[in-house]
Amino acid sequence: MIKVKVPATSANIGAGFDCLGVALKLYNIFGFEELSEGLKFEGFAEEYCNEENVVYQAMISCFDKCNYKVKGIKITLIEQNIPMTRGLGSSSSCIVAGLIGANRLAGNTLTRDEILDLAVEIEGHPDNVAPAILGGMVVAIKDDEKTYYNKFNIEDRLKFVALIPDFMLATSDSRNVLPKVVEFKDAIFNLSRAAFTVSCFATGRYEALNKACMDKLHEPYRSRLIPNYFTIINKVYNNGGLCAFLSGAGPTIMSLYLEKDINNLSEVNTFIDNLDEKWDLIKLEAENNEIHL
Ligand code: HSE
Repeated sequence: MIKVKVPATSANIGAGFDCLGVALKLYNIFGFEELSEGLKFEGFAEEYCNEENVVYQAMISCFDKCNYKVKGIKITLIEQNIPMTRGLGSSSSCIVAGLIGANRLAGNTLTRDEILDLAVEIEGHPDNVAPAILGGMVVAIKDDEKTYYNKFNIEDRLKFVALIPDFMLATSDSRNVLPKVVEFKDAIFNLSRAAFTVSCFATGRYEALNKACMDKLHEPYRSRLIPNYFTIINKVYNNGGLCAFLSGAGPTIMSLYLEKDINNLSEVNTFIDNLDEKWDLIKLEAENNEIHL
């Protein structure tokens, strides 16, 4: 069996809407086998055991691109650790796994960049699939059919803390609340902070991340779907957090801490424990290695 291990991702870092994401050490693992005929699934919930399955659909895109005539396929969900529809890249893990699994079955004909281009075409934006494939933190842009990117590693002394609520938020619902047009001043607000965010990581001036990681393109709209959003963000800032932002399309709130402050989370923990909704706090690290093709 071919096994593919895909990391979770946190996208939309600060003001980097649709262009800035990071890979995290939390993984889904998928298995792929070519059969003499048919389509089989193992380990998936019943509702995903059909041709609409995102992993299967990604495989078909890859086979089409490589002109590979597959006879039959078995897809196994071996391990699912990335929570679904929480803004941590679970659906992009399915796309990336499907493309890489199919590419291996087809004889590894596509390059990493070709897989990335296909993944971005399927997902529509690069900020989850790019770090899932490349590892580290990735700035990515799409120009016509091609994705251009720069990847850099995250220092060990930077730690991530994900605050994950027990309710789901589908990316499509979360995109539906976004405005069609934004004001010029809001565009300037975001582009200046997105550039500033990347410069904080490039220079190691993490203390400036609190000013960098602010957003006017999606958080004001999506935060209305997440009870206590800004109260939780403020709690993080008041308890040693370098920054906090909506992870991907939400509802997870991602925060960053210096390693020396990571054990000081009891106040944040107590705070979320007392909220009406159930929130889990998970400590994570960046995954700087690129995915195995
Ligand atoms: N940039 C994407 C969004 C990430 O915010 O909709 C979620 O897939």
